[in-house]
Amino acid sequence: MSRTPIIAGNWKMHKSPKVAVAFVQELASMIQPYDKVERVVAPTFLALGSVAAALEGAALKVASQDAHWEESGAYTSQVSAAMLQPLVDYVIIGHSECRAFLNETDENVNKKAHAILACGLQAIIAVGESLEQNEAGETVEFVRSQVSAALEGISAEDMRRVVIAYEPIWAIGTGRSASGEQADEIIKSAVRDTVRALYDDAVADALRIQYGGSVKPGNMEEFMSQPNIDGALVGGASLQADDFAALIEIASRVKGM
Ligand code: PGA
Repeated sequence: MSRTPIIAGNWKMHKSPKVAVAFVQELASMIQPYDKVERVVAPTFLALGSVAAALEGAALKVASQDAHWEESGAYTSQVSAAMLQPLVDYVIIGHSECRAFLNETDENVNKKAHAILACGLQAIIAVGESLEQNEAGETVEFVRSQVSAALEGISAEDMRRVVIAYEPIWAIGTGRSASGEQADEIIKSAVRDTVRALYDDAVADALRIQYGGSVKPGNMEEFMSQPNIDGALVGGASLQADDFAALIEIASRVKGM
């Protein structure tokens, strides 16, 4: 089963609209040769409008870093999936920073997934264990529970628009990544096989799963060589155009695109 690799840059709270537009214009031309790899950038909410306008027609997709599940309402500071729909292709939900700082729960991640898919967008659902859970040997069980909760009530048909990002929290922004083999093993047993049990072989084998956590040009090949890893969700290394372009080039080469 061949799956289109997907490399997404999560810019977190970096890059003003002006900086973001100049960046994507530069990046779009650098990555032109690797168009068999799906490429996504996730600017702040504030920059989504200008980045989306600048990328009109370019083979670089836009994601938002979150979305609220209600269409509109008294939710100060929030932006709904419906409002994002004209601007983005993807919405990232369940990021560990949102789980830690914004009280993102499994239940909310599931509500957000339903809202995103209902407006025709695609979801990147992030899951991953803490250092304590990892050291206690609870990784597989915990990640399985996050995956099952996030996908509750999502149809097999809608699963075609879902990407799951496995990001061990201890590897995010720390410079300390999992080894390619470790990540592949968890992705297979805790993510792909969970989806297999919840749906069927066809859904599990078609699901694209990213690794995230201190991905950089120096370790990208190791992750992309793994059979269950279909791409990366990248923080720090997505902020420099040459690093991010290098990740896309490596994905394209290693996956034989
Ligand atoms: P990092 O962030 O690449 O800086 O570790 C990854 C993420 O938070 O998605």
